Amino acid sequence: MPDLRDKIILITGATSGIGKATAHALAGQGAHVILLARNRAKAARTRQEIIDATGNPHVDTALADLSVLQQVRDVAAEINAQYPRLDVLINNAGLMFGAAREVSADGYEMTLATNHLGPFLLTGLLLDLLRRSPAARVVNVASGAYRFSRPTLDDLQSVRSYHPLWEYGTTKLFNIMFTQELARRLRGHGIANVVANALHPGAVATGYGSQSGGWLALAAQLGRPFMLSPEKGAETSIFLATDARAGTVSGGYFAKKKAVPVNSRFNTPENARRLWELSEQLTGMPFLP
Ligand SMILES: NC(=O)c1ccc[n+]([C@@H]2O[C@H](COP(=O)([O-])OP(=O)(O)OC[C@H]3O[C@@H](n4cnc5c(N)ncnc54)[C@H](OP(=O)(O)O)[C@@H]3O)[C@@H](O)[C@H]2O)c1
Repeated sequence: MPDLRDKIILITGATSGIGKATAHALAGQGAHVILLARNRAKAARTRQEIIDATGNPHVDTALADLSVLQQVRDVAAEINAQYPRLDVLINNAGLMFGAAREVSADGYEMTLATNHLGPFLLTGLLLDLLRRSPAARVVNVASGAYRFSRPTLDDLQSVRSYHPLWEYGTTKLFNIMFTQELARRLRGHGIANVVANALHPGAVATGYGSQSGGWLALAAQLGRPFMLSPEKGAETSIFLATDARAGTVSGGYFAKKKAVPVNSRFNTPENARRLWELSEQLTGMPFLP
């Protein structure tokens, strides 16, 4: 197990499921962990639980609802002011919404806002802080559910057609394409000290699916006894965040700690570039042009 005492690691969605297990394990290895959460009380409770269990006092909280762009800007400003560098950013928070299409405070479809636009903006705003690390990593928690997607760039807000499962799958494909494009752009800018990789954690017994209601929530609940524990589900995130070999790879998609192919005809460099540009416009955050 690597000694992480000199690492500052930010994890989003750290109050539950895979994110909480990831934060717990990384704090257990000595990292200075920042739990980014949307719920103040849950964040405080999780922080105390992790400190009590690991004996590591270096566990901080930062508050933001990732679907609200102004909250992402505010929390990024706080983090930029508070920390000398960031060694690892784990974009873990994500969820599937319900049968009825909802929009965020910024007027964007909720799944897109939470799972893709928030993390895109957060990553852009923290890039300079990551660049101050000698060897930084961005770890994006995607999902094998990218296969259940109907991606299109001309109805990004799913106004014409919305289904929670396709929407979730599409945003998870976007997580992978964002990772690959980020890696390409980092390379293109000659930034060698930041790598970016995405992953599928496996089917993990967490709160995942509970927000979607209806048969999707029921299916998630019924499947839970057959799923991985959150600790097991956190393993590939932890591998990409800490393993020495993983630090030499960028733009990969991993499952069970191994690089695996992405089987999607939509996943072309041209679509990834267009997705990046649309995300820049929607978040008002141009970076790595
Ligand atoms: N579980 C699986 O089988 C599975 C499979 C493939 C991929 N994944 C991916 O794994 C990641 C973690 O999911 P999980 O299974 O651990 O689910 P989870 O237990 O529901 O945890 C999701 C976390 O994201 C946070 N979150 C949700 N919306 C947010 C927002 N708007 N702003 C800030 N934080 C927000 C939640 O905060 P609260 O605690 O306040 O609710 C929670 O901490 C997700 O990206 C998911 O897509 C999961």
